[in-house]
Amino acid sequence: MAQDSSLDWSTLISERGRRWEPSAIRGLFPLEKIPGMVSLLAGKPNADTFPFSAIKVDLKPIIPGDPVETLTVESDALNEALQYGATAGLPNLVKWIENLQETRHKRAKDGSWRVSLGSGSQDLINKAFHSLVNDDDSILIESPVYSGTLGLLNRFQVNLIELPVDNEGLDPAKLEETLDNFATLYPGKRFPRLLYTIPTGSNPTGATAPESRRQAVLALARKHNLLILEDDAYHFLSFDPTHLVPSYFELEARDGGKTGRVVRFDSFSKILSSGMRLGFVTGPKELLDVIDLHTANTNLQPSSTTQAMVLVLLNKWGLDGFIAHTQRVAAFYKAKRDMFERVAHRYLDGLATWVSPEAGMFLFLDLHLTKDGTAGDSSSLISTTAVQKGVLAVPGIGFLPNGGVSSFVRVSFSLATEQDAELAFERLRECVLEARGEA
Ligand SMILES: Cc1ncc(COP(=O)(O)O)c(C=O)c1O
Repeated sequence: MAQDSSLDWSTLISERGRRWEPSAIRGLFPLEKIPGMVSLLAGKPNADTFPFSAIKVDLKPIIPGDPVETLTVESDALNEALQYGATAGLPNLVKWIENLQETRHKRAKDGSWRVSLGSGSQDLINKAFHSLVNDDDSILIESPVYSGTLGLLNRFQVNLIELPVDNEGLDPAKLEETLDNFATLYPGKRFPRLLYTIPTGSNPTGATAPESRRQAVLALARKHNLLILEDDAYHFLSFDPTHLVPSYFELEARDGGKTGRVVRFDSFSKILSSGMRLGFVTGPKELLDVIDLHTANTNLQPSSTTQAMVLVLLNKWGLDGFIAHTQRVAAFYKAKRDMFERVAHRYLDGLATWVSPEAGMFLFLDLHLTKDGTAGDSSSLISTTAVQKGVLAVPGIGFLPNGGVSSFVRVSFSLATEQDAELAFERLRECVLEARGEA
């Protein structure tokens, strides 16, 4: 596997990214490891003054009724958990995740990529954009797309070049057309260097891009010298674990392919806990070094306390135990999807259409708000009428990079009971009927 020599990191890193200086203290942390070194370096609080003597976590039994198992973080691991420490994450957790990525995405540890942890994948996506984006850059972005990414991109002065997605996610034909005709379609705009995509169980559309599309997108990225930012927050929520679609991170190294073009974002939020705020980025060292500088100079490190809880758990589970857990989580959401869709069909057939998701936790409903088939606008219906009727959901407009009109609504099945689904879809049905003048 060779690094792609057409990637020039000295120009790919943004002006902002190049401006970070190593933190005066954190930059010297590695020297503390030199045997015999007396470190008077960091303003580390003295752990003797901390009131905690152990962190104990009780695990829910896999089989209800089995005994509760308690894992304990203590002694050296406790000190590490409670103290300032490595910017990229607890070294043993980073190693664990690198082993996971090596196995899961079939990427040999050849030194060209590594892993850093962040306070959720959102933190790392934000830092990646900071590291890569200059004012007036153009960014290729799926439309509709996760509103959280749009929220952070709003702070940048950039041109969001929308790539419409369909039932199978990003359409390489649309990407090719955009890239081949960029100068005509977007006169005066800078040619893009970044493509942001959510390939599995997309938020909001629920779509998963098949391998053939990912291969075609990757080929275009190579041809046009783009970096692919692969936001795979729902990777582990794939409902058929026996037919996983290979990630971009895996595909770029297939058949000895040149690597370094894919930056991958994973999240522990959907599989362990969202409140722990832990996610990880996997990709070229050149970029991760800049992301780490951002962390070292801003929030210093992701919480080592929650990292230590995760590490003690992952060490107990091992890779196989972790994958088995993610498969149980995916099976849970698959059952939710099945229930949710059953109820949705009962109330909304003829009034809405949607793609049945193969991963994730969302249905993206295209509401048929007019009788003559013209496209309607769900915005005020969902943010006003639906709320008055007692159902909360996100209008499609919230996911459009450059605003506009949308007849869609995103509904999440992660928490809903069957009773919730009944009430919600009955109320949504009333809203749609009202909009159509059929109430
Ligand atoms: C597509 C996508 N990316 C990133 C995130 C952020 O996740 P995290 O909790 O890891 O920051 C979310 C959260 O919903 C998401 O849907």
